[in-house]
Amino acid sequence: TPVSPTGKSPYPSSVLAGPSKVPSTNPHLVTWVNEMAALCKPDRVVWVDGSEEEKKRLTDEAVAQGTLLPLNQEKLPGCYLHRSNPNDVARVEQLTFICTPTADEAGPTNNWMAPKDAYEKLGKLFDGSMRGRTMYVVPYIMGPAGSPMAKVGVELTDSIYVVLNMRIMARMGNIALKQLGESNDFNRGLHSTLDCNPERRFICHFPQDNTIWSVGSGYGGNVLLGKKCLALRVGSYLGRKEGWLAEHMLILGVESPEGEMTYVAAAFPSACGKTNFAMMIPPARFKGWKIYTVGDDIAWMKVGEDGRLRAVNPEFGYFGVAPGTNLKSNPNAMRTIARDTIYTNVALTSDGDVWWEGKDGDIPNELTDWQGRPWTRKGSTEKAAHPNSRFTAPMTNNPALSRFAEDPEGVPISAIIFGGRRANTVPLVIQAFSWTHGVFFGSALGSETTAAAAGKTGIVRRDPFAMLPFCGYNMADYFAHWLEMQAFITNPPKIFMVNWFRQDKNGNFLWPGFGENMRVLKWIVDRARLRVGGQETPFGWVPRAGDLDLSGLAISHEQVDAATEIDLDEWKAELESHGDFFKKFGERLPHVLELQREMFLARIETL
Ligand code: GDP
Ligand code: PGA
Ligand code: MN
Ligand code: MN
Repeated sequence: TPVSPTGKSPYPSSVLAGPSKVPSTNPHLVTWVNEMAALCKPDRVVWVDGSEEEKKRLTDEAVAQGTLLPLNQEKLPGCYLHRSNPNDVARVEQLTFICTPTADEAGPTNNWMAPKDAYEKLGKLFDGSMRGRTMYVVPYIMGPAGSPMAKVGVELTDSIYVVLNMRIMARMGNIALKQLGESNDFNRGLHSTLDCNPERRFICHFPQDNTIWSVGSGYGGNVLLGKKCLALRVGSYLGRKEGWLAEHMLILGVESPEGEMTYVAAAFPSACGKTNFAMMIPPARFKGWKIYTVGDDIAWMKVGEDGRLRAVNPEFGYFGVAPGTNLKSNPNAMRTIARDTIYTNVALTSDGDVWWEGKDGDIPNELTDWQGRPWTRKGSTEKAAHPNSRFTAPMTNNPALSRFAEDPEGVPISAIIFGGRRANTVPLVIQAFSWTHGVFFGSALGSETTAAAAGKTGIVRRDPFAMLPFCGYNMADYFAHWLEMQAFITNPPKIFMVNWFRQDKNGNFLWPGFGENMRVLKWIVDRARLRVGGQETPFGWVPRAGDLDLSGLAISHEQVDAATEIDLDEWKAELESHGDFFKKFGERLPHVLELQREMFLARIETL
């Protein structure tokens, strides 16, 4: 179909399918795309197919527009740099809404807008928003193709950056149209960057309609709609309705020297160590042990026929934090991002390489900072890379990718770990006494805010299950759902709480973290397999003296003691804070959680 040279076409935009025709006969899909095109009024509608040829064409166009900057192709083949608008560098929780029919359904931890108001308000912003632009139709699958757990979404966007990132983060293009067939069961996502004005920025979720509308941002977490919006917010709602769990969790496999494989899922808030833990390389002491990555951010879990919890990673790539990533902390990530990677808001070296705070080697004397300004080691006070600068890389680049990462049935989970970023209070590791006690751990999780979301960093807040920004319905009902799942999981994973981020009085981390976290993981695996002891305390089980393998560890035993210490006064304050948080939910909070808190307090008070 011809596109007129003036960009004004006599044809309805939906028939202008770029190089190809509309590649779907699905009436639900085609009708919806037409409706959204009539609203946004793009000059062209292009259905993406996911081919290599298309990737090249869109990449060239993005480079011509200045959206992507080619990096040194000898050092970093297939890699590009994107600089976002400086006002648009993280998720915006204040501008994120759950649009359920009633405010109660969204609950006290979410922003709520009535669906009708949200459609109206955003509809006005979308009206004509794509004039002079192209609307890309991006069909994608979250989850392994053909998996009973997979879901299809279609994102309409006017951003080539979004298309190219979605291509890495999800199975995208014709493969998704094929999976969808003529079904009406797909997530309807609409995105326009508009003029990237925070005054006109809204991320709205309509769980009942399986619909997401996102305007005014170009930042990953706000606009790659398959990820946080579908796989977590809408996903958690669908999970409750359909009897499964959508979680902010990495999934890894631990293989022992004997070849025994144990799968673990772990929920840490954004920028609290999921990607690093999922790709960890054990220290030399653990010869023959190997970690395999299934996923680094999101887990969809259902109960298998064997009564075990089975997890799939709905994503296809990693959208990871760049600062702090180096050959020592995360060698697998460094290898993963050496090719075919889109970098966002990192610094640039004079020879077209990327740089960020905490990268290997000497700090360069001169750089171009994340905003494209000259930066010098001696003269500049600001960071060269944004603290939330990111890489988008295909998971297939990961040398430690699990060969079960695409298993349609998912991997069986033996342990679930909750962890936050806490300078004090929370010790290195504790095991919950039971599923209910573990759900209490999750519901009361606290963590310091990080650069992954706009706003002040370093403030402790309750971030239950690391899902505070991602739960698509009333968090009290989410807790109830976790408690109810117990009845169906006849062979439940053991539940743990960890903290890699405890500090000494000078603000230094007590625990070396990264690969050394293997020492804690080994104890967790052995506990899950019922072959190592634990010391019973009022808090839960902790490793007995000698249970944690500390041989070859570069830090002193005093330091380990400080990292594992439990301070009663700190815990009394902590439990008060849990109580304040629980009060938000009123009568809707499952009573058993408040009971867990009171029993905990009573156990401490007898000490
Ligand atoms: P994610 O956003 O949860 O995936 O977190 P990442 O794995 O990307 O890590 C976020 C930041 O925390 C990075 O700067 C990491 O270098 C740092 N980090 C990750 N794991 C550890 C750890 O075990 N100890 C310490 N001190 N920092 C860590
Ligand atoms: P993260 O993912 O958890 O790896 O930081 C992005 C986010 O949560 O915003
Ligand atoms: Mn995340
Ligand atoms: Mn991550």
